[in-house]
Amino acid sequence: NSMLSWQRTAFHFQPEKNWMNDPNGPLFYKGWYHFFYQYNPNGAIWGDIVWGHAVSRDLIHWLHLPLAMVPDQWYDFNGVWTGSATILPDGKIVMLYTGATNESVQVQNLAYPADPSDPLLIKWIKYSGNPVLVPPPGIHHKDFRDPTTAWLTSEGKWRIIIGSKINRTGIALVYDTKDFKTYELLDGLFHGVPGTGMWECVDFYPVSKAEDCGLDTSINGPEVKHVVKASLDDDRHDYYAIGTYHDKNSTWVPDNPEIDVGIGIRYDYGVFYASKTFYDQDKSRRILWGWIGESDSEFADVKKGWASIQSIPRTILFDNKTGTHLLQWPVQEVESLRLRSNEFDKVQVKAGSVMKLDVGSATQLDIEAEFEVDKEALDKAPESNVTFSCSSSGGSVKRGALGPFGVSVLADEALSEQTPVYFYIVKGNGGKLTTHFCTDQSRSSEATDVNKPIYGSYVPVLEGEKLSLRILVDHSIVESFAQGGRTCIASRVYPTKAIYGAARLFLFNNATDASVTASLKIWQMNSAFIRPYPSENK
Ligand code: FRU
Repeated sequence: NSMLSWQRTAFHFQPEKNWMNDPNGPLFYKGWYHFFYQYNPNGAIWGDIVWGHAVSRDLIHWLHLPLAMVPDQWYDFNGVWTGSATILPDGKIVMLYTGATNESVQVQNLAYPADPSDPLLIKWIKYSGNPVLVPPPGIHHKDFRDPTTAWLTSEGKWRIIIGSKINRTGIALVYDTKDFKTYELLDGLFHGVPGTGMWECVDFYPVSKAEDCGLDTSINGPEVKHVVKASLDDDRHDYYAIGTYHDKNSTWVPDNPEIDVGIGIRYDYGVFYASKTFYDQDKSRRILWGWIGESDSEFADVKKGWASIQSIPRTILFDNKTGTHLLQWPVQEVESLRLRSNEFDKVQVKAGSVMKLDVGSATQLDIEAEFEVDKEALDKAPESNVTFSCSSSGGSVKRGALGPFGVSVLADEALSEQTPVYFYIVKGNGGKLTTHFCTDQSRSSEATDVNKPIYGSYVPVLEGEKLSLRILVDHSIVESFAQGGRTCIASRVYPTKAIYGAARLFLFNNATDASVTASLKIWQMNSAFIRPYPSENK
């Protein structure tokens, strides 16, 4: 439907048509990045789930491949659901995935490439002994899914976790295996958090305290911390926590029980779910993929013929400076799409002003910005004990002494449509400054059938740091990163006027007192090649 085609993205991964959800089994093999995903070949809503498959040299340009796995067995008759890849020391690939059986029982299945010499890994074989795992006693048959990548234990066995729940406690079950065919359920839980409900798509991986690089999933040691992530089925967000992994008793403990999985920090405060990391052994980095759904109506999805995109893959690092956060940053390869740029150096933005940034068309952009708040205003601002939260404190039109200020993207000339991405500083009792990072969708579109929430959260800002921002704009998505990726927000927006050549970019400062100095570099972004599989095209 060409009427709605402006909402299609130009450099985010998406299938040609129909529904997509979770990233599955990402891996690097013989020079190619492989990306599998939950896909409905028959329509733009969830159902009939198979594994779609695409490959890339650089995580940006993609070639779609034939479906990797479809429901053709009793043990995945109702869906080939989410799973993860493990690359064994000899280079062999093992894929574990959840099948919804003919009776809708969630079981785990094993699959492997039919031809390991094929770098495109086009054909997949399901193990004849499937399923390899069924729900254990005490676990509901519909609460047992999404096996992780396996890692090696100190005893030389492979270990995986699988998400579930007991009553309202979200849990990760832990299993050991030598051959991926038979498994031992270990006593106790790997981890669990009361009140968080079903844990989907759990993830577990090491991060380095010492170096700015990623670690293979099996790495452990004194310089390593371990991350656990769960996707909460109930509130549809991905929560992570940083902690310590105990190999011997197969458990994980958060550093801070108040920032535990599901009750603390999220990867993203916008639309971002069922994410999964993998270790890229080619470039020694850990990469995060996340499913970004639509914020329009199901009716609109069916009409436009597609639903969902994937985030730009994000490099994951431990943030040594805070010790509490991860840093998420778009993979460096996305910068290969940068075309001409405009620079704005130390622009003074007075309290209560808006300023157009002349960059031409503004639907495909990569924006880097830095803000400095007037020192005198910071000192003078009154202390306040009112709690601020992005989602419920009035958005970008609600003026405070020290914010909001930032950038408005996907705006039309008259600013009747715009999506402000901004900081809001609060001075609390004792003069303590807290910075919030938000995006306000409430005026993003004149369409009435779309969600227009205000997203955001607190972002740690350390002594002496400037406020910094990165924004990727791609037609109907705005991916925003504050302070090097400590706090991230992916928003889906559906402007009706601010499209193609009519889209503009503004700088704004809605603070009542503080003037800010902004420096920006803004690139036009090329489109990525996301090509159909040749034989499908004839
Ligand atoms: C998460 C999820 C997984 C499941 C898959 C089915 O979005 O519900 O738990 O395996 O999607 O498509």
